[in-house]
Parts: sequence; structure tokens; C-alpha cells
Amino acid sequence: MTDLARLVQALPKAELHLHLEGSLEPELMFELARRNGIDIPYDSVEAIRAAYDFSNLQDFLDIYYVGMNVLVTEADFFDLTWAYLTRVHAENVRHVEVFFDPQGHTDRGIAFDTVVAGITHALDRAKAEWGLSSKLILCFLRHLSEEAAFETLEMARPHLDRIDGVGLDSSELGHPPSKFQRVFEAAGALGLKRVAHAGEEGPPAYIHEALDLLKVDRIDHGNRALEDGTLVARLGREQMTLTVCPLSNLRLCGIARLEDHPLKRMLALGLRATVNSDDPAYFGGYVNDNYIRTAEATGLTADEIVELARNSFRGSFLPADEIARHLAEIDAVVETVG
Ligand code: ADE
Ligand code: ZN
Repeated sequence: MTDLARLVQALPKAELHLHLEGSLEPELMFELARRNGIDIPYDSVEAIRAAYDFSNLQDFLDIYYVGMNVLVTEADFFDLTWAYLTRVHAENVRHVEVFFDPQGHTDRGIAFDTVVAGITHALDRAKAEWGLSSKLILCFLRHLSEEAAFETLEMARPHLDRIDGVGLDSSELGHPPSKFQRVFEAAGALGLKRVAHAGEEGPPAYIHEALDLLKVDRIDHGNRALEDGTLVARLGREQMTLTVCPLSNLRLCGIARLEDHPLKRMLALGLRATVNSDDPAYFGGYVNDNYIRTAEATGLTADEIVELARNSFRGSFLPADEIARHLAEIDAVVETVG
């Protein structure tokens, strides 16, 4: 292991941008397809991996929605979530705020309860066994209607003791945040946190809308904010957390090479950037790989890596005392490593 990889491994971290359905590894996809008698358009794990060659977000989403069809029973959602948590526990991740896409399941006739029961069973077990804490965020699919989002929020009502926030994902271009202003307002009135993918492929105006109309607590991605100086100044002033996903940006062709990734520039501009994996089974790396590969490609310093880990807790929805405890643990690692 390089010194850099040792530092990343040693640092306690939170992951704030992770789609559970995007952590479905080809091996598990195959096993669940067999277990549930579901046809998938691949005849081997290698064929699945070979299909993961994307030129943009929509290319990926088309395959992502087919992949999740193998998830049927509560046990499937448990296995999916447990595999992710096992993986990041080994990477010294102490807290996760994970997304799920209920409409990707309820539209196939899977009960909302089944999805939430399987996921939360795994989240509870990770907390009990390892002290790994979590928040659960329901994402609305933005290519679907406002009405469908309201129906999903209604389905979530009996589960609000287990759901901490709402998010907005799927095809960004042509589906601006303004389309979901009313449903985000309703979610806020229910006491839910609010986040939205913005500026992944969409223009800076979508980030303005997420802030002004959806009243988000975080921006997911936010890369294209860098095209708008006024927006950068605002994001810095408000210390708005950006959940940046470098390997995702590379694989979806937002950047041509990892060397071109703007993470280091975001930090230099005073933005509260964090590092996350987005859909690790599809993009070739979990959270530590995102730190290590981006650090190697863009020359992040040890101090910058530590700052990114601190930001992951500062930007979380944990209570202040827990954030302080995690930050103190980071300080202790810095003392021993430095
Ligand atoms: N759903 C899963 N991953 C996504 C991403 N990176 N952007 C938008 N929607 C998504
Ligand atoms: Zn995402």
C-alpha cells in the first residue's frame, strides 16, 4: 500500500452520495436473477462488466434500470445493502447516507414496504455490529412526473420514522428542479431533509433552482457550478456541501481524464466538497478508490485529503455532537500519521 492509500484507509469517513441500486455487483445481479427466475440480457458476469461502457448519464441509466429488475424480495434488498455496508466498513467508513429509488421498484409491482424493510434491516445490523451509522434518503426519479413523485411521498408516509430525507436523481437534462418544487416543499413540511442532483450534466441554472426552489441542504455533484462565479461565491459563503463523485464523472464522460477532475480546484475555491462513489458497481470503485485515484491523478496533498474526510462529516445529517466526535477521531489519526 502506498502512503496515500494508507492515509485514506486510516481516516474515518462518511459517504454521502451512494445509490444502493448502483452498488449491485454483477455477481450478485446474476445470483438474484437465478434466485428469482428473472431474465437479464447477459449470459456471464464478464458480459455484464463489458456492457458498462457509457458515454453519458442516460447511457448508464438505461442499464442501471434493467439491472435493478433482479431485486424482488426483502431478502434481496437486505443482501444488496449488506454487501455495500460490508464493503465500506472494511474501508473505515463510519457513517453513510444512502439513496434508494423506490419508483424503480414500485413501478414493477414491488411493495414499498418490502424495499424499506430489506434496506433498514441491513442498516440496523451494521449499526448494531459495527457502530456504522446511517441515514436513508428516498430519491424521486426526475424523468417521471410530479404526480408520480407525490404518490411516492404518500407511500413513504408510514415509513417516515426510517426515512431521513428526499433526493432527486435520474435524467437531469430537460428535467429541472423547478418541476419538483411543490413535492420538495411537502417533503420539507414533513420534516425531511432535501438534496438534489444538480450540475452533474445540467447547467448552473439547475443548481440555482435546487437552492432557491427546492431549498436543498446539499447539492449532489455540483460540478458545473464552476462555470458560474456568482454561484461559486454563494456556495462558498453558505458552506453548501457538494457530494462529488470523481470516478462517476470519469465513467459518464463529464471529464475526459481523471487528471482533469475539478476536486482540487473546488477546495482551493473554498467549496465544501466531499468524495463519494455514486454507483460503485458500475463505475469501478468504492469510496476509498475515489479518494486514492483522484489524489494520485490531481496531486491532492495529505492536508487536502484530510479536509475532504472532515467535510464528509460536516456535510452529513448527523447531530452536532456526533460530527464533533468523528472530527476528533480524524484529528487523532492525523496526529499518529503526521
Ligand atoms: N441514479 C443513479 N446514479 C445516478 C447519477 N449519477 N445521476 C443521476 N441519477 C442517478
Ligand atoms: Zn448520484
